[in-house]
Amino acid sequence: MGTQEHLQRRRFLRLVTGVPVLGAALSFLSPLLRLLKPNDRPFEVFYNPTRRDIPLGEVTVAASLREVARPWDFKYFVFTQKYPQYTPTGLRQASVPAVVLRLPQKIRLPWDWAGQIGKPQLVGRESDIIIFSRICPHLGCIFNFVPNWQEVTAGYGGYVPPPPRRHALIACPCHLSIFDPADPQQPGRVLSGPAPRPPRTFLYEIRGEQIVATDVEPGGIA
Ligand code: FES
Repeated sequence: MGTQEHLQRRRFLRLVTGVPVLGAALSFLSPLLRLLKPNDRPFEVFYNPTRRDIPLGEVTVAASLREVARPWDFKYFVFTQKYPQYTPTGLRQASVPAVVLRLPQKIRLPWDWAGQIGKPQLVGRESDIIIFSRICPHLGCIFNFVPNWQEVTAGYGGYVPPPPRRHALIACPCHLSIFDPADPQQPGRVLSGPAPRPPRTFLYEIRGEQIVATDVEPGGIA
């Protein structure tokens, strides 16, 4: 092999082995750049109901009114959310565990986001029925609805709620975030632990005897 050919070959090899290194460097830098310059596009750009590439929920019966007739009655159910994807069906399905519960009093539902998905008539609605996604807004574990607050104290890191909050609570087993589902100002308020916000809520309709979940609040986990 001539010297010229040898040099070309070495240059080629250096180029080829450099590609993965460059790829690794870029994948490391990308989140860093996103952290320094977060995407501040307004919410509508992500979730515009006129677009066809938005997640779509499968309308699901959460419970019958009879099943959650008394204060603190609750029922778990699973909601199917479909995300547009480059797959043979064009969709990926995700199961969102959820809990529907009856509160002891009516509150203003945290549905301000309803206006953003084309349902402004739901903003400001009051009810004593609320539906939360059970995906913890900290790191995505599935949390529990705990009817007896003493069980929260005993089983979730010793948190003792102050007297006005000594009722059923939501508790995450992973890093012990505790939420108050009945806080009148901010349903799902974080009482303790690392969760950055209340759990996401669902829109629902009452159809005859049934509570039907229609949409889950959009956004990432945290
Ligand atoms: S995932 Fe729930 S507290 Fe961390």
